[in-house]
Amino acid sequence: MAYTLVLLPGDGTGPEVMREAVKVLKAVQDSFGVSFDTFPFPAGGQYYMDTGAEWPDGAFESCKAADAILLGAVGLPDVSLPNGDLAGVGVVFGLRFGLDLYANVRPTKLYPNVLHKVHEHFKQVWEPGKVDFVIVRENTEGLYTPARGFLSRGGIDELAVDSRIITRKGAERVIRYAFELSTRRKGAPSDGTHRVTCVDKSNVTAGCKLFRRIYDEVASDYPGVHRDYAYIDAFQQWLLRSPEAYDVAVTSNVFGDIATDLAAVLQGGMGMAAGGNIGDAHAMFEPIHGSSPKHAGKDEVNPIAMILATQMMLDWLGRRKKDAALREAATAVEMAVERHLAEGKALTYDLGGKARCSEVGSAIAAAIPKIAKRSA
Ligand code: IPM
Ligand code: MG
Repeated sequence: MAYTLVLLPGDGTGPEVMREAVKVLKAVQDSFGVSFDTFPFPAGGQYYMDTGAEWPDGAFESCKAADAILLGAVGLPDVSLPNGDLAGVGVVFGLRFGLDLYANVRPTKLYPNVLHKVHEHFKQVWEPGKVDFVIVRENTEGLYTPARGFLSRGGIDELAVDSRIITRKGAERVIRYAFELSTRRKGAPSDGTHRVTCVDKSNVTAGCKLFRRIYDEVASDYPGVHRDYAYIDAFQQWLLRSPEAYDVAVTSNVFGDIATDLAAVLQGGMGMAAGGNIGDAHAMFEPIHGSSPKHAGKDEVNPIAMILATQMMLDWLGRRKKDAALREAATAVEMAVERHLAEGKALTYDLGGKARCSEVGSAIAAAIPKIAKRSA
């Protein structure tokens, strides 16, 4: 059975990391007896400059018809739409809102031999295995609800407003996603406890009060998962101090946006951080880094975030289609990444090495058939 994948390489370093993801997909095809029909589409700032549209007609419909979507990165400096938005961001939001991808799932895991990006002094404290949590970010409402605007009365009367919408439906489904995810995991590294942390600002905002109330309702369906609460400000501090205490955290849109960039520091930086935008019927997977134009065309960025996004896609699709081969492939891809890092021979600059992006991708892809053979 062939799965249909839409590939959106995008701008800057997006196409470079996507090439490495494609090597991994080929290795998976060869080793696990699954097949992928891939449909690439241009999208982003460059495409906007060339055509006046952020992506081609029909691209969204193809995404909707596909089994899954992989995105590299979109956006170029100073390439904006007439309303001031960065060109290409409409693609990301078009998918998140248009396909109702309500859970933005961002794992933070520190792999062997990867230094987190704070200060070397902390290296001994945070051993691999001690950082292994997932932040589940609400992805379709909150401060990102497109209900905003300016009122230009000139001078000091100028006004801008953003609406932070929290709905019962939006909160309920993402919180339930977080609890389901926790039941499938090993628990927090510190004590093996399945724990879902509700991250909010319910000491102040109405939306967060509703979010926390719904969290409690949903939590009562999961007696095996420990309840935990944190205000977003304190959460940021605790996350840095004791990452091992966390299993899954669930939060509203903009808090999740901020917390996940911070969390990436604990896993070796943005070059290691992958995410899935997941709904009930569709999903799009992406590295959470941007298009980093200053590194573009140099074959020097870390493709591992993109490869781990591909790994998440294989796992999601395997569960959705009840296809054991895909799930085994997902396990093998993660193993290949883990071994590659443990070996530490070909690392990109962000991990302290000198390897090319393409070398890292090739090495990880080459390890997949060997892992498949051993587990067969
Ligand atoms: C992310 C990004 C996006 C977001 C930007 C590019 C709109 O920061 O995926 O975290 O804010 O969601
Ligand atoms: Mg972000």
